[in-house]
Amino acid sequence: MPKVYIRTFGCQMNERDSEWIIGRLLSEGWELTDNPANADLAIVNTCSVRKHAEDRAFSLVGRLKKIKNQKPNFKIALIGCSAEAYKEEIFERFPYVDLVIGPAKENKFLEFLKEERKILSVGEEGENKEFIPECDYRRKRFSAFVSIMEGCDNFCSYCIVPYVRGRERSRPLKEIVSEVKFLVDKGYKEVMLLGQNVNSYKLDSSSVGSLGRDKNNGFIKLLEEIDKTGIERIRFMTSHPKDASGDLFRAMRDLEHVCEHLHLPLQSGSDKILKLMNRNYTLDRYLNLVDEYRKILPSGSLTTDIIVGFPGEEEEDFEATLNALLKIEFDSAFIFKYSPRPYTSASKLEDNVPRQEKERRNNLALAVQKEISLRKKMKLLKEKVEVLFEECKDGKTLGRSRENFSVEVNREETPGSIADVIVEGVRINTLIGR
Ligand code: 5AD
Ligand code: SF4
Repeated sequence: MPKVYIRTFGCQMNERDSEWIIGRLLSEGWELTDNPANADLAIVNTCSVRKHAEDRAFSLVGRLKKIKNQKPNFKIALIGCSAEAYKEEIFERFPYVDLVIGPAKENKFLEFLKEERKILSVGEEGENKEFIPECDYRRKRFSAFVSIMEGCDNFCSYCIVPYVRGRERSRPLKEIVSEVKFLVDKGYKEVMLLGQNVNSYKLDSSSVGSLGRDKNNGFIKLLEEIDKTGIERIRFMTSHPKDASGDLFRAMRDLEHVCEHLHLPLQSGSDKILKLMNRNYTLDRYLNLVDEYRKILPSGSLTTDIIVGFPGEEEEDFEATLNALLKIEFDSAFIFKYSPRPYTSASKLEDNVPRQEKERRNNLALAVQKEISLRKKMKLLKEKVEVLFEECKDGKTLGRSRENFSVEVNREETPGSIADVIVEGVRINTLIGR
């Protein structure tokens, strides 16, 4: 049986794309291997969101060359966001790569593979990956990624995603609901609904008609329908502040299976920088949204993404971001150093915050957030959280609470089961419970 090795960089969307491709390959008789030297085909699923992520994927491609030198039939496929970003240039830089396919064309992976020649895919017109139950493969046993939409139309000035994943397109509601029902039947307990901007999910015309609903509430309608499928938990990612609303928060409160966690990227606490980022909201609007969220869902958790060192970010802008972190008190935050990306409008601005200064701001923001995260977790001591157990090892079991906190208990629990846990201790990234 031919063997395939796959390595995935980047976000959950990429993880899901890799799963989809593996599923198709397994159904054609391939076998998975975690050692590229034993493989007949290596797939590198790349991320181009920051240069660092991109470099790591490219350096793996470089290492795979040695295998190719020893095994001429060994094939290397470079897929994902950097494939679309660099197209032909990939073949110039890595002439031994066999296949280059951007994320919006990966549904053609098998077809391209059979043709046994270099194929370049350009995804101006994005195509979605069809859900084929017979080819279903997921890496995790109880929690499944479900893509609800692809692409992005927001054009935040720093972000390459709209250029590599194409225009926004939503999957039909019926197809998503039947995928979730299929997962319920297979024993999955949780779905993570994925999209670059889930709040702008659009209902297809047949669903709008049959449900008689306002088109703009497509995502809420989708949540309502998935809530009825029998899945225990529903999560979603990512929300854009310009589209999130009280209606969404009320749906999160009222729908039994929707988890009380909101990931709402702030990016910066300075209105000047938010404007340069083309985010379409001010800090005030963001703060109002947070107030509304916390009024409606007092126990809900809130997490965010922050970029430091954006072009033109002065000390006072950075301080505005630190103040926002202190004021909002996120449960956790991903903090990134700005990295200029091809195609983006920000890449035309001078990247004028020096590397060391970016590093300093990054470390400072991380330290501030670490303290907040810990302090907020301490408030959960003696509280009860509902945990879905996922992994049991050395007499300990790890799981996640509805609020998306990682939770560890000091005994063996059945993976896939859900139980109430009393919080008895706190580590920076984990609650310890009984
Ligand atoms: N540089 C740094 N961080 C970026 N992100 C997106 N593009 C860039 C960039 N060019 C971050 C944003 C986004 C997260 C997924 O990655 O914070 O929310
Ligand atoms: Fe990376 Fe963005 Fe592509 Fe995800 S969508 S893999 S974060 S560039």
